[in-house]
Amino acid sequence: MILDENYTLSNGVEIPKLGLGTWFISNKDVVQAVVDAVKIGYRHIETAQAYRNESGVGDGFRASGVKREDLFISTKLAAGAKSFEKATSAIDRSLQTMGLEYIDMMLIHSPQPWNKFGDEDRYFEGNREAWRALEEVYKSGKLRAIGVSNFEKEDLENILASCTVKPMVNQILAHISNTPKELIQYTQVQGILVEAYSPIAHGELLKNEEVAKIADKYGVTIPQLSIRYTLQLGLLPLPKTANPAHMEENADVEFVISDEDMDYLINVDPIEDYGDASMMPVYGGKMNLRSILSMIFRSFRS
Ligand SMILES: NC(=O)c1ccc[n+]([C@@H]2O[C@H](COP(=O)([O-])OP(=O)(O)OC[C@H]3O[C@@H](n4cnc5c(N)ncnc54)[C@H](OP(=O)(O)O)[C@@H]3O)[C@@H](O)[C@H]2O)c1
Repeated sequence: MILDENYTLSNGVEIPKLGLGTWFISNKDVVQAVVDAVKIGYRHIETAQAYRNESGVGDGFRASGVKREDLFISTKLAAGAKSFEKATSAIDRSLQTMGLEYIDMMLIHSPQPWNKFGDEDRYFEGNREAWRALEEVYKSGKLRAIGVSNFEKEDLENILASCTVKPMVNQILAHISNTPKELIQYTQVQGILVEAYSPIAHGELLKNEEVAKIADKYGVTIPQLSIRYTLQLGLLPLPKTANPAHMEENADVEFVISDEDMDYLINVDPIEDYGDASMMPVYGGKMNLRSILSMIFRSFRS
C-alpha cells in the first residue's frame, strides 16, 4: 500500500511516497486534517510559511498521538527571503511556530519573490544566500533534508554550482496535461526527487471528460488516476484535502496505468484556466491587488 512506501532522498533520509497538501486549509482546520490523515495512515504532511497554518500543523502532530520520528513534516521558506539573515530568521520562525525541535524538510518556496514570479531576474545571488542558510541549519541537525520548489533548470544549476549540500527535492507543478518532462528528467538525473504539487490540477482535472474516460476504464476516480500517474513517473504527489473520505480514496492507488495510457495522459491538452486560482503566480497569473485579496478571501472561507 502506498502509505507504507517511501522514497529515499540523496542523503539517505526516507520520505513517505504520498504527502498531504495543506494549501488553503486554515490554521484551525488543519489540526483535525492532520489528526485524520495520521489515523488513515498518512505519515507525510506538507505546508509552507505562506499557508499560515504551520502552527496548526504542529498542533495536529501533537494531537495525533504519533511519535515524532514517525511523521515527516515538510515546510517551505517564504519566497521573499532572499538574504542569509532573512532566511535564517525565517527558518527559526518555522521551528518556533510549529513547536518542533527539528523539521524533516524545508524547501525554498520559489526562486523569485511572488510579485516577481516569471520575471527575467532569477535572483541567483539571493537564492545562493537562502540556500547557504538552509545548509547551515541542515548541518546543525534542525532540518533533516533541504530542497527547492518551482526551480527551473537554470535555478538548479545556480545552486548546484556553489552548494556544499545538494538539494534533495524540487517541488514543481506536475499533473496530467502539464508534465514538464525535460525539467523532471534533468532534476532526476541530478539525484533530486521531484515532488508533484497540485497533482489534481488544483481540482481542475475533475472536470476533464477525456481524463474521466481513462479513469472509468480502470474503475478508479480522477484523483486516483492523477495520483497514480505522478507515482508512475517517479514523482511524489501532494494531493490536498481536509476530507477524510478523500484522503482514503487518494491513498488507494494500487493499480497500474498502461504505458499506452501514460503516453495519452501526458499529451492531454493543457489546462487553460485554473478557475478561482488562475490569478496565482504558480498557474501563470500575476501577483497584484486582486490576487492578494482573493488569496485572503479564500483562506478565510476555507
Ligand atoms: N510549491 C508550490 O508553489 C505549490 C503550489 C501549489 C500547491 N502546492 C502544494 O501542493 C498541494 C496540492 O495542490 P493543490 O492544493 O493546488 O491542489 P490539488 O491537490 O491538485 O487539488 C485539490 C483539489 O482537489 C480536491 N480533491 C482532492 N482529493 C479529492 C478526491 N478524492 N475527490 C474529489 N476531490 C478531491 C480538493 O477538494 P477537497 O478539499 O474538497 O477534498 C481540492 O479542491 C498544496 O496543498 C500544497 O501543499 C505547492
